[in-house]
This record gives sequence, C-alpha cells and structure tokens, in this order.
Amino acid sequence: MAMDLSRITVRPFKLSDLEDMWLWASDDRVTYNTRLDTCVTKEQAVALIDECITHEFKKSICLDDRSIGIIWVIPWAGDAKFKADLGYAIGFNYWGKGIATKAVKIVLSQAFHVLPYLKRLQAFTLVENKASQRVLQKVGFQREGVLRNFFYAKGNFIDPLVYSFLPTNEIPNLD
Ligand SMILES: CC(C)(COP(=O)(O)OP(=O)(O)OC[C@H]1O[C@@H](n2cnc3c(N)ncnc32)[C@H](O)[C@@H]1OP(=O)(O)O)[C@@H](O)C(=O)NCCC(=O)NCCS
Repeated sequence: MAMDLSRITVRPFKLSDLEDMWLWASDDRVTYNTRLDTCVTKEQAVALIDECITHEFKKSICLDDRSIGIIWVIPWAGDAKFKADLGYAIGFNYWGKGIATKAVKIVLSQAFHVLPYLKRLQAFTLVENKASQRVLQKVGFQREGVLRNFFYAKGNFIDPLVYSFLPTNEIPNLD
C-alpha cells in the first residue's frame, strides 16, 4: 500500500532524535553517496545533531515526527552565498516510497523564503545514483551536465552530474 505522504515533515533536529538518527546515520548504505561521514559512535551522532541544530538549514526528515533522514541546504560562503548545495539521505528501510521527493518539495517551498538571497539551488549526484537523479527530475530540477574531476574523495576523482533549481522555476505542489 502506498504511504500517506502527509505523515512526512521536515523540521529542525532535536537532541531527542538521537536514537532515531542513529538508525540511519550509522548505515553506510545511507551515507555512501553523500557528504555525511557514517557515524561509528553515539558521540559522533550527538555531534552531528549539534551541528544540524546550529546550522541554518540542516533538517530532519520525519515520519510521524520521528527522524528517518536528513536534508540540507548549504549556502556557499561570502559573495557566493547566492548559491547553495542541496543534499538528502533517507533511512534504508524507507527507500522507494516517495519520501525524498516529498522532502525536497517541502524544502523548495521554504528555502527561497528562509534564505531570500538564494538565486540558485544546486545538487550533485553520482552518475550511477539513478534514484537521486529521478527525485531531482520529479521536482523540477534541471540537469546541467557532468562536471569532470570535480570532487576528490577516498582517493578517487569523481565526475558528478549537476542539477539546478532557480527561484524563477515553478515550485512543485506539495501533494
Ligand atoms: C536517493 C534517495 C534519497 C532516494 O530516496 P527515496 O525516498 O527512495 O526517493 P523517492 O522514493 O522519492 O524517489 C525515487 C525514484 O527513483 C526511482 N529509482 C530508484 N532506483 C532507481 C534506479 N536504479 N533506476 C532508475 N530509477 C530508480 C524510483 O522508482 C522513484 O521514481 P518514481 O517515483 O518515478 O518511481 C535514497 O535512496 C537515499 O537516501 N540514498 C542514499 C543517500 C543518497 O544517495 N542521497 C542523494 C545524494 S545526491
């Protein structure tokens, strides 16, 4: 049966999210394609919650108000803060239910108001991360191309796909 996506919310993290966060933040399958380090200790998970609480836009994706993932909008520094990087990750057991798509829609409905200087929201995906590309396509991001040797991680240069969403694009309906 399809999930009732009205149960999905995006809200600031709370310290009481620790046990729920641990379930996904300690899972390599969830963190693998992201800028998140997999939490190995509970102290690392507490540090991640603290960092999210103090950041202007690193929020919890919740099912019935329990944390099942994370979504962030990270503006670049200084004069480049008009652009920001979007990222997200969902607990493995919740993949394939439309949750990331709903969470990105919620964030698109908020981000350009909360960060009024934002002129470009961009997201990077690995070429093989078809699920993430599909999420971005469904909510109206435009695929711009491949950035060659753009990231260096764990000894490898990476050629990500880049997608963008501008404030002039149509904000998708939350349904
Ligand atoms: C990527 C991720 C966030 C997707 O979350 P999700 O809640 O499963 O996404 P949704 O259910 O909203 O949408 C996934 C879409 O991708 C499609 N999809 C999934 N795997 C696919 C594949 N191998 N090839 C093509 N499409 C695929 C689904 O069918 C769905 O599209 P549809 O609604 O048209 O059927 C989740 O897999 C995740 O957390 N992965 C690890 C972290 C990560 O990769 N984050 C993104 C970094 S850029």
